[in-house]
Amino acid sequence: MTAPFSARIQRGTPRNLARLARLLRAGELVAVPTETVYGLAANALDARACRKIFTAKGRPASDPLIVHIHSLAQLAEVAEPNAAARRLAEKFWPGALTLVLPKKTCVPGTVSAGLPSVAVRMPSHPLFRRLLKLAGIPLAAPSANPFGYVSPTSAAHVRAGLGRKIRHILDGGPCTIGLESTIVDLRHPRAPRLLRPGAVTQAQLERVLGIPVRPASKSAAKPAAAQLAPGLLARHYSPRTPVTLHQKISSAAARRSPADEAWVFLAKPRALMGKNIFWFDTHGRLPGVARRLFHVLRLLDGKKFARLHVELALGEGLATAINDRLRRAAAK
Ligand code: TXA
Ligand code: MG
Repeated sequence: MTAPFSARIQRGTPRNLARLARLLRAGELVAVPTETVYGLAANALDARACRKIFTAKGRPASDPLIVHIHSLAQLAEVAEPNAAARRLAEKFWPGALTLVLPKKTCVPGTVSAGLPSVAVRMPSHPLFRRLLKLAGIPLAAPSANPFGYVSPTSAAHVRAGLGRKIRHILDGGPCTIGLESTIVDLRHPRAPRLLRPGAVTQAQLERVLGIPVRPASKSAAKPAAAQLAPGLLARHYSPRTPVTLHQKISSAAARRSPADEAWVFLAKPRALMGKNIFWFDTHGRLPGVARRLFHVLRLLDGKKFARLHVELALGEGLATAINDRLRRAAAK
C-alpha cells in the first residue's frame, strides 16, 4: 500500500504553469480549471497516464474522456473533422462545446473507451489555455470529481473529492459557467445528435448548422457504458442527500416544512427566512443559477439535511441544461 497523496492547490504563476506542463508531458495527473467545471487532466496520447484518471476517479473504463486542445491544428491530429464540425468550432470555440468525431489512431482506446470516435473540446479558460500551449499535447480530462458525485466548480471542491488521490491542482478561481460542456455527436454531419445539453444551446447549434439537432437516445449517448451497465448513468452529479424536484416551490410549503428538510429556490424568496431556506441566484437569473448550482448542492450535502427540495428552472436553452443536471441529481 502506498500512502495517499495530499494535493496542493497551486496558483497559475508562469513558474507553476511551466512545471505543471512538464509534469503532464511526463505522464502525471493535474487538476485544471475550465470555464465549465474543473477537469482532471493527463496526456491524451499516453494510455498509461490516462488510466490513472480512471483509477483516481473510480470511473468505469467504459466511460470515455473528453480530449482538450489548444488549436485547430490539434483537432486534425486527434480527430477527423467534417464541414459541420469546422462551422461549429469557428462559432463556439474556444468554449463550452464538445464535438464527437471519428478518432485518429494516435488516440488510445483508453481515452475513447474502445469507441472508434473521440470527444474534443477547445476550452476558453485563460490558465488552462496557457497550460495546453506550454504542454504542447492534447489533454484528456473528465470532470475532477469521484465518479457519480457532483462536479467541481472550484479548486477547493477538487481537493475535497480527490485530495488524497492526486498531487496537483491548478487554481483558476470559480468556474464562470458552472455546468459541463454541451456535447454534440457529429459522426454523421447530416444527423447531428445532442448527447448532453450545456451552455451552448440546441437552438444556437441549429442556427449555425441550419438543420435540426436531435437529442440522442440514452443508449446512443453512452454506447459502451450502456452495454456494460444499462441505466447506470441516469443517476449522476448526485449529492448523498435525497433530492426532490419541484416545478415551483410555494413559500407556504417551505414554511410548513420540518426543519431538517432544505428548500432551494431559483431566486431569493420574498418574506421567507430560515436555516433551511436557500436560493441559487438572488434574482433567479439562469447564468447565475448555472454558476452556483453545483456549489449549492455540495454545500447543502454537507449540512446533514434529511432531504433537499429543489426548484426547477423555467424555459429552454440554459434551463434545459440546468434541469438535466437536477434530474440526474434527483434520480434514484
Ligand atoms: O465541460 C466539460 O465537458 C468538462 C470539462 C473538464 O471539459 N468535462 C466533462 O467530462 O464534463 P465528463 O466527466 O462529463 O466526461 C465526458 C463525457 C462522457 O461521460 C461521455 O458522455 C462523453 O463525454 N463522451 C466522451 N467521449 C465520447 C464519445 N467518443 N462518444 C460519445 N460520448 C463521449
Ligand atoms: Mg463528469
